[in-house]
Amino acid sequence: MKNKLITMAMLAALFSAMVFTQSCEKEGEGNETNISRHGDDDSHNMGQNCMNCHKNGGQGEGWFNVAGTVYNAAFTSGQPNGTVKLYTGPDGTGTLKYTVEVDSKGNFYTTEDIDFSGGLYPSVTGTSGDVQYMGTTITTGACNSCHNVSTSKIYVN
Ligand code: HEC
Ligand code: HEC
Repeated sequence: MKNKLITMAMLAALFSAMVFTQSCEKEGEGNETNISRHGDDDSHNMGQNCMNCHKNGGQGEGWFNVAGTVYNAAFTSGQPNGTVKLYTGPDGTGTLKYTVEVDSKGNFYTTEDIDFSGGLYPSVTGTSGDVQYMGTTITTGACNSCHNVSTSKIYVN
């Protein structure tokens, strides 16, 4: 019994040492700034959950805190050059906390720090002036983890 406990403790120590070494290597690479702007065209994988890859330890360049894809109302293509805004209140009320420009492919992404602690209400403004509001708060910026998966794609006219 005693021997078994000691063996287990040694195994646990060995395991945590391995995990620690591994995560240190990944963290050592550090994040890099990668923020979408109107007109940019260096993004890809429209509609996919960007944070599957753009995360700490992932292969994507930059760990995104907010990212996703905006489509036209017919969902036939990305809607270029709109603007994503995150408010503290519904329907554009409260404080506008963050703004992310949508690129020319309909993708938006940012590596800047986002405080989701109180929950934030997203909206998307199209170049036409149309605004679409999400009626509930989010606590994650991985927009395409829901949109295009458990709910429809994000759209704006
Ligand atoms: C399957 C993994 C994967 C997914 C999903 C993914 N990316 Fe990437 N991304 C990468 C990798 C790997 C690179 C670096 C190599 C390259 O450019 O292809 C990259 C590079 C980029 C770059 C180029 C950075 C630069 O400075 O040139 C942008 C912008 C980008 N991704 C945005 C996005 C957006 C926005 C999404 C979601 C709509 C997304 N990515 C989804 C893996 C991914
Ligand atoms: C946890 C799942 C989830 C996440 C994460 C999420 N959404 Fe939503 N979104 C929904 C659901 C469900 C609806 C429809 C009901 C509603 O409005 O609350 C919706 C509706 C919307 C709408 C209104 C309809 C439309 O498509 O124009 C917009 C705009 C929107 N979301 C934008 C965003 C943006 C931008 C992000 C990321 C910053 C995001 N959402 C993250 C689940 C999510």
